[in-house]
Amino acid sequence: MSDSRQLRMGMVGGGEGAFIGAVHRAAARFDDEACLVAGAFSSTADKSRASGRALGVADDRAYGSWEEMLARESALPEHERIDFVSIVVPNHLHFPVARAFTDAGIHVICDKPLVHTSAEARQLADLVAARRTVFAVTYNYSGYPLVKQARHLVTSGALGDVRKIVVAYYQGWLTTALEEQGHKQAAWRTDPERAGAGAIGDIGSHAEQLARYVTGSRVRELCADVHTFVPGRRIDDDVSVLLRFDNGARGTLVASQVCTGSENDLQLSVWGTQGRLRWRQEEPNALLVSSTSGVEQIWRRGNDALCDAARNATRLPPGHPEAFHEAFANVYRNAFAAIRADAGGLDAGRTYDFPDVQDGAVGVRFIETTLASGASDRKWTPM
Ligand SMILES: NC(=O)c1ccc[n+]([C@@H]2O[C@H](COP(=O)([O-])OP(=O)(O)OC[C@H]3O[C@@H](n4cnc5c(N)ncnc54)[C@H](O)[C@@H]3O)[C@@H](O)[C@H]2O)c1
Repeated sequence: MSDSRQLRMGMVGGGEGAFIGAVHRAAARFDDEACLVAGAFSSTADKSRASGRALGVADDRAYGSWEEMLARESALPEHERIDFVSIVVPNHLHFPVARAFTDAGIHVICDKPLVHTSAEARQLADLVAARRTVFAVTYNYSGYPLVKQARHLVTSGALGDVRKIVVAYYQGWLTTALEEQGHKQAAWRTDPERAGAGAIGDIGSHAEQLARYVTGSRVRELCADVHTFVPGRRIDDDVSVLLRFDNGARGTLVASQVCTGSENDLQLSVWGTQGRLRWRQEEPNALLVSSTSGVEQIWRRGNDALCDAARNATRLPPGHPEAFHEAFANVYRNAFAAIRADAGGLDAGRTYDFPDVQDGAVGVRFIETTLASGASDRKWTPM
């Protein structure tokens, strides 16, 4: 593949009124590396075509369904066909759509949680390996430069041996039964069939991946309290988990969507034998690090003191804030590098620093294990 040409992007989901589809489109186009050429943007054919038109997609490539899109794109000559598809539909559709496009040899960028079950995740990972395609999962918080710096500090031993990992994602937007008031995003997120899991899947998956990405430690076993506060809601909206990690560290994870007044308060603290770091998504341009000396450092983005991965994840000079869109674009940029290198296969995520299908599979396992622990009397449950 020529290094400089724009990649041809397709999208499933992200139609009029959708939330994250527009963020994916912005992320893909942030560095002028991709151009949206095709899509099945909605569950109804008319709305899908109207959304495509509004996005500047040619009429003959704004498809009525993702099945039609796959058939028609696959039949196009290689120099016209989409290079990759972004999957931004409700969770229950991730598996069939991702499996079908991967099977056709098309690279995939899929939102989280990857799929509903570990069996599906394994099937997908095997297929990705067999087709040698690139598969990224948009755990976008790992795209922040100071999260990459945090990972660098932990893995280079600056904190000493990691002992305690505390991660939380607090939201308050589901404090009331919004799903009963015609709120589209709340409706599918609180429907077990479409969402798979509630707060633990929607935001707990981000928290788990953030802790794993920064520390390199994986949860070995956990003990969960899974609760639903809002009457009539059929899915968890508040989850607290005790964690034991494979390196001996202990910790906690909280994922709650009923923390009244909280917005998108994802936060991580890591303590080692030599020091501590703290990062918060709502103040993403500062990383706080302190040591036994009692002095607290504030690392900021956009300067030469940072590690390569953090420097490469920054576009603006220091002092101009970067945030959600840029971090999202970093996942895309690193996945694009793998697509361009035509690397494919499961090693691509490791080499190119983006969350891949294996990371997605670990996330699915974490959600499953948390729900199993919550439902059991035994409580401590191995991953
Ligand atoms: N990474 C993040 O930070 C982040 C943030 C929000 C959502 N998400 C994930 O992104 C996905 C979408 O979430 P959202 O909040 O944008 O949902 P949304 O309800 O706003 O959008 C979903 C879109 O999918 C479309 N759709 C539904 N069925 C379809 C079908 N059969 N074919 C084509 N399109 C179809 C809907 O019409 C809509 O346009 C979810 O998996 C969610 O977990 C991730």
